[in-house]
Amino acid sequence: MIKLIIDTDPGIDDAMAIFYAAAAPDIELLGLTTIFGNVTTPIATRNALRLLEAADLSLPVAHGAEVPLAMPPFSPSAQVHGSEGFGDIPAEIPKGRPVAEEAADFLIRMAREHKGELVLCPIGPLTNIALAIQRDPDFVTNVKRIVIMGGSFEEGGNITPHAEANIYHDPHAADVVFAAGSKVVMVGLDVTHRILCTQEDFSAIAGQSPELGGMLQKMSEFYLAFYATVGKFDGCSLHDPAAVIACTNPELFEMRKTPIRVACEGEEIGATLADTTGSRQAVSVCMGVDSDAVKSLFLKRLALLP
Ligand code: BDR
Ligand code: CA
Repeated sequence: MIKLIIDTDPGIDDAMAIFYAAAAPDIELLGLTTIFGNVTTPIATRNALRLLEAADLSLPVAHGAEVPLAMPPFSPSAQVHGSEGFGDIPAEIPKGRPVAEEAADFLIRMAREHKGELVLCPIGPLTNIALAIQRDPDFVTNVKRIVIMGGSFEEGGNITPHAEANIYHDPHAADVVFAAGSKVVMVGLDVTHRILCTQEDFSAIAGQSPELGGMLQKMSEFYLAFYATVGKFDGCSLHDPAAVIACTNPELFEMRKTPIRVACEGEEIGATLADTTGSRQAVSVCMGVDSDAVKSLFLKRLALLP
């Protein structure tokens, strides 16, 4: 059983990852922190609260940074996740409120209180994690692992030819996190582009889990339609669920140890590159995956939901 906090910009595959974590018997979900990316941070906070209420989970949600560390703010990518984050599902106001503490401070406190046990799974831009690292010199030693959905080592980008979206949206923050070294696991496009779900898979999920699986099926229609426009995938990528699964089942991934730096300017901005300066510790970069096993775990666990 792992203690987990997900830092998220919900987002359709974020919703899949959060419901997966809610269903997984080997995950104790301690809360969510929110970030801009697929949507603005206020919408991310609203959506995070809404997902927890849908899953009948009473957990803290901490509102995160609203702008990147050094880059100007940008408009969310509505063509991938819809203007409200959940495809064609309309906005709905949750009953709950975020905690008073901001996300970075919440993460710092939780890492202290669960020293050596807390696994962080950021599935959006890395601003909150970078702020926590900058504010607390003990943060990196206090956490057990930071398993990131983001980056691409050999696969090329998905938002530019060089960059994956989560890293691109705050490259400076990502560089701070990759500098943290050996506790970091990168679950990037090298593996997530190999884990695909089809319309039939989501129909099967909805058949077994009419409420929450049904919600995912409805959202996935928009996500699948976007993937169809890209033209090179048979289905949609399980980016964010893959990172959550890597937290509990690292044996399903082949990892390469290499130090990483992030390009923070120029044409390659947002690219995750091998650092050759000798000044950084190696992180674990996922380069191979047992896609069938990850996908079947995803389908099996979601079937447990109402
Ligand atoms: C990542 O970007 C977002 O669109 C997804 O939610 C995922 O976290 C994939 O590049
Ligand atoms: Ca995400």
